Amino acid sequence: MVEFRLPANSRPRPGRVWPAPQAGARVKRFHVYRWNPEDGDNPRVDVFPIDLDHSGAMVLDALVKIKNEIDPTLTFRRSCREGICGSCAMNIDGTNTLACLKPIDSIKGDVRIYPLNHQPVIKDLVVDLSHLYAQYRLIKPWLQADTPPPPDGERLQSTEERARIDGYWECILCFCCTSGCPSWWWNGDRYLGPAVLLQAYRWIVDSRDEATEQRLDDLNDSFRLYRCHTIMNCTETCPKGLNPGKAIALIKQAVAQRAFF
Ligand code: SF4
Ligand code: SF4
Ligand code: FES
Repeated sequence: MVEFRLPANSRPRPGRVWPAPQAGARVKRFHVYRWNPEDGDNPRVDVFPIDLDHSGAMVLDALVKIKNEIDPTLTFRRSCREGICGSCAMNIDGTNTLACLKPIDSIKGDVRIYPLNHQPVIKDLVVDLSHLYAQYRLIKPWLQADTPPPPDGERLQSTEERARIDGYWECILCFCCTSGCPSWWWNGDRYLGPAVLLQAYRWIVDSRDEATEQRLDDLNDSFRLYRCHTIMNCTETCPKGLNPGKAIALIKQAVAQRAFF
């Protein structure tokens, strides 16, 4: 259970500006959102000037450098540093993305880093994903089949059947898409949002799964599925290049086709 939340009505105030590296360095300024629930202060934005000649190429490298060399209290999640674990998702330069995949030199001017938008903040750039994972559990994200697997092997798929989950199995549950979805902002208590719906479609379309009808029944709800208004922020922001908006449209199509037969 996470106890801390971003205080209501709190706007980040200007925070500490750290000293610049020595003259002549290739300096870029990183404005980083800070909030520590234990100090009683409102959120602030600290500014860290970084010498790019002594930093890795990605935004995550700069954050690691800040934590290692300037302010060890800076708090953020990361693990794989290659776009696989999804833990370094944050809002960089106005877009939800993965810090480890975001080249610093793709950002003009100063770099502004905030937590994923519309998520409760635990500390600095770390957000509470409990609600999103509770929604993920709702879609039963595992293979459901009454038919036992062959005694001497795995459940096989044809090449065509396997290809149907391409574009969906690659989702790393970073929640960049859901955090950027206006419909989820307003109805996130009941609307499942693009990440969870893309995952739902991944199981609906899997030829080995035998719970398709039940899965569609569970999603056929004016809030769980139909709060998507095809705004497509989700697809725009996905750092893995996936298309959650299309997955949602395909679920709606599957529900509608069932209604006609
Ligand atoms: S297409 Fe649907 S899920 Fe994606 S951002 Fe728009 S409303 Fe949200
Ligand atoms: S669809 Fe893309 S943005 Fe959304 S959770 Fe999966 S990988 Fe992240
Ligand atoms: S550290 Fe794993 S996705 Fe960025």
